[in-house]
Amino acid sequence: MSYTIDVHLTRDDVRQRMRADAIDGLQSASKSIPPVWFYDERGSQLFEQITRLPEYYPTRAERHLLETYARTIAELSKADTLVELGAGACEKTRVLLSALQDFGTLATYIPFDVSDEFLRDAASTLSSEYESLAVHLVIGDFSEHLAEIPTEGRRMVAFLGGTIGNLDPARRARFLFDLNCTMSSDDSLLLGADLVKDRRRLVAAYDDAAGVTADFNKNVLHVLNEQLGGDFDPDQFTHVARWNENEQWIEMRLRAEHATDVKLQEAGISVQFAAHEEMLTEISAKFTPARIEAELHDAGFVVDGMWGADEGEFLLTLAHPFC
Ligand code: SAH
Ligand code: TRP
Repeated sequence: MSYTIDVHLTRDDVRQRMRADAIDGLQSASKSIPPVWFYDERGSQLFEQITRLPEYYPTRAERHLLETYARTIAELSKADTLVELGAGACEKTRVLLSALQDFGTLATYIPFDVSDEFLRDAASTLSSEYESLAVHLVIGDFSEHLAEIPTEGRRMVAFLGGTIGNLDPARRARFLFDLNCTMSSDDSLLLGADLVKDRRRLVAAYDDAAGVTADFNKNVLHVLNEQLGGDFDPDQFTHVARWNENEQWIEMRLRAEHATDVKLQEAGISVQFAAHEEMLTEISAKFTPARIEAELHDAGFVVDGMWGADEGEFLLTLAHPFC
């Protein structure tokens, strides 16, 4: 039941950065708010519900790939330390941990996430299931604190759930490059990415019939209210999920149904929404195997294996730094 923890992002840091992001994103001509702020305790719970929705295929598809290929991945990586970026509920992780344990190398698990309380709960449950495992939590932002992650051992860095697609192309390139700089050539990267497919299936995965994704999207308004003394009325906003064919990504937006003024007291700003004005809250890019390979290559990685490319649902890629 025990773990160690490094915190690189305190509650105060979160509030300060959210304040800067709100001032930036809500006052610009086309409004947006970075997706990292979805994930307070309630947001993380709502995301867990999303992973169980009938329309949300990525989690099931990725778990199936892990269950089928985790042994092979463990043998190729020979890792003794599993680092997991954006670990969340650490659910699918168990498949990897068990495979590494069976292979006989596993010693340490390092889950990394911005969602502090949620990760603590998930990690304490997990550490009671794997008694000989050293569990070392790191709380931080993967766009900023990659260099703070411990580097001992032979590491496999897992970045699952298609979270890579939530970064726009420029941020993605920087993220992969920065990550590469923190890795040695014995380390490996296990990347889970969602693949381009029929647009109706894509849109349904981000606009489910039960409305859980809508609640998740609107949660960012609750977070802004709570953290920055805002007076958003979430009922006045509608969830929008749209496939952008040019960019090959799903866009999540919140649309103001009526003209409305919102105050964010602790950010010292007042924001005007016109009727039907939309605010971008998230993108979820979809890939082809060739594109993943090219982006990894550009960031200094060579691909050791790809799984799922033929079924066309979801893709797992194992890679390592080439220098
Ligand atoms: N890996 C899990 C969860 C994916 S959801 C799965 O596959 O189901 C994305 C996760 O990344 C959430 O747990 C969220 O809290 C975390 N996250 C999002 N942006 C982050 C950031 N900038 N830095 C660190 N963690 C982040
Ligand atoms: N990484 C997830 C994805 O892109 C995040 C996600 C799933 C999400 N559903 C969402 C983000 C709805 C915002 C809104 O699939």
